[in-house]
Amino acid sequence: MQKGTSNFYNKFSVCYPLVDFFLLPQKRILAAAVNEMPIGNLLEVGVGNGSHLKYYRQHQVTGIDISSSMLATARKSNPPQVRLEEMDGENLTYAAEQFDYIVLSHVIAVAKHPDKLLQEAHRVLKPQGKLLILNHFTPDHWMKYIDHAAQAIASLFHFRSIFRQEDIPTGDFSLIKEIKVGKLGYFKLLIFQKI
Ligand SMILES: C[S@@+](CC[C@H](N)C(=O)[O-])C[C@H]1O[C@@H](n2cnc3c(N)ncnc32)[C@H](O)[C@@H]1O
Repeated sequence: MQKGTSNFYNKFSVCYPLVDFFLLPQKRILAAAVNEMPIGNLLEVGVGNGSHLKYYRQHQVTGIDISSSMLATARKSNPPQVRLEEMDGENLTYAAEQFDYIVLSHVIAVAKHPDKLLQEAHRVLKPQGKLLILNHFTPDHWMKYIDHAAQAIASLFHFRSIFRQEDIPTGDFSLIKEIKVGKLGYFKLLIFQKI
């Protein structure tokens, strides 16, 4: 469990609706991709306040997070059939091959050990299961300087501003789709399949 990160999000949860407002267009693109997939069992790791779960239409949804405050907000705005649990995505308590889909929305650059997060995602995904990663990715153009300049502030907010697509340790997955979200290729939705 990443105590520093959970403590941070426990305090930050009241301000998160501002972040939500900014992320809403991205969440709609994510939900559209999720809704195109056949009905299945979906796990969102680092679900946060779960304000976007209402856009996932047909799946059986489970959301986990290490922040009890973010989850408390998620419980208020979601119906009881959405399963919400306090759990570390780097150490899931689920048995292997339970889920058809795993969503990581703005979590991979927050998690302390992205490699462990993906190992666990791989373990609990069914064969051929899909992993959807929505995140910012440091590009090769001028915007990389913004990420470099923001590094110190970003660490205060418990995320890595410098995070390149090549940094994702996705050896056990194959990339099947890449959707640019917004301008300049800074945000992307990457869809992988379990090998
Ligand atoms: C930037 S927020 C993203 C929330 C939501 N997914 C979204 O897109 O709005 C990151 C979330 O990941 C959670 N988190 C960070 N590390 C985690 C871990 N190892 N396991 C589960 N949740 C984690 C934080 O508590 C926080 O709620």
